[in-house]
Amino acid sequence: DEIDAKLYEPMRRHTTMLVGGPAQFWIEPHSFEAFAAVVSHCRERGIALRVVGRGSNLLVRDGGIRGAVVHPSGGVFSECRAEDGKVIAGAGVRLKKLASVAQAAGIGGFEWMEGIPGNVGGALRMNAGAMGTETFDQVVSVTFLDEDGEIRVRSREEIVANYRDVPELRRNFALQATFEGKPDTAEAIQGRWDASRSKRRASQPVAASAGCIFKNPEETPAGKLVDELGLKGSNEGKARVSEVHGNFIVNGGGATASEVLAVIERIKAVARETRGIELETEVKV
Ligand code: EPU
Repeated sequence: DEIDAKLYEPMRRHTTMLVGGPAQFWIEPHSFEAFAAVVSHCRERGIALRVVGRGSNLLVRDGGIRGAVVHPSGGVFSECRAEDGKVIAGAGVRLKKLASVAQAAGIGGFEWMEGIPGNVGGALRMNAGAMGTETFDQVVSVTFLDEDGEIRVRSREEIVANYRDVPELRRNFALQATFEGKPDTAEAIQGRWDASRSKRRASQPVAASAGCIFKNPEETPAGKLVDELGLKGSNEGKARVSEVHGNFIVNGGGATASEVLAVIERIKAVARETRGIELETEVKV
């Protein structure tokens, strides 16, 4: 009961874009030890392995994923608790849940997480951010599985966190983390929570998406660029550039990964040809 597994599990059930073919082996470990056992099993046998959290920043191709897809959930991975003014959360906890546990404990600063559809593991891996704050602004320490199969804890100072990238967590897997915020009243926290939600509702689409598709290039925000290029609302089948925000591609219902990829490639081509800007996907493709 430390592991649940399925064969040929459709990834469209596990991505917020609602797109993607089957994962050959879908594996849900519920403890650090089970997670480590799955990773070493795959490594010993040369089985390709990737870890997927909430699938909110991920585009899975229609052909699916060969090998094992590990989804930390349940057990220790779903635990989230406040302790001594800090919040400890497993890799499978949603950021929104983390923010509400913090709020209930009178710890502020997590409100920006209210609208982020991802889990803690993915947020650590990519240093997810919004409203001017990033995940690692609040990390105290991270527990991870290293390349030798050892479970280790590293403090914030020992980890390099860049814009949407944490090199250390490319081959090491985040299992749990401790976060910090600032003591505050429930009312003040609620106020910032509501402000974040209103700002997001006014500027980002609610339809199925993977959040922002491209990293912001140095020149200009990607959404603004797509907007200026006149590509908002353009589509390939059921995949469409959001009319609300140019850096979102939304699934209008039953879109395929190849349609989404076609929209991505068209935007990249137009940005390159007309502005000389090389867009890079933020979403893992
Ligand atoms: N803009 C336009 N047209 C558009 C979209 C945006 O002109 O269609 C303009 C806005 O008016 C604003 C500027 O572009 O002046 C920047 O837009 P916004 O404030 O929405 O922020 P962003 O840079 O597009 C970033 C993050 C988002 C995060 C928001 C809010 C990236 C790639 N994106 O977006 O993160 O939610 O700030 O803090 O860094 C994500 O990571 O998936 C994501 C959505």
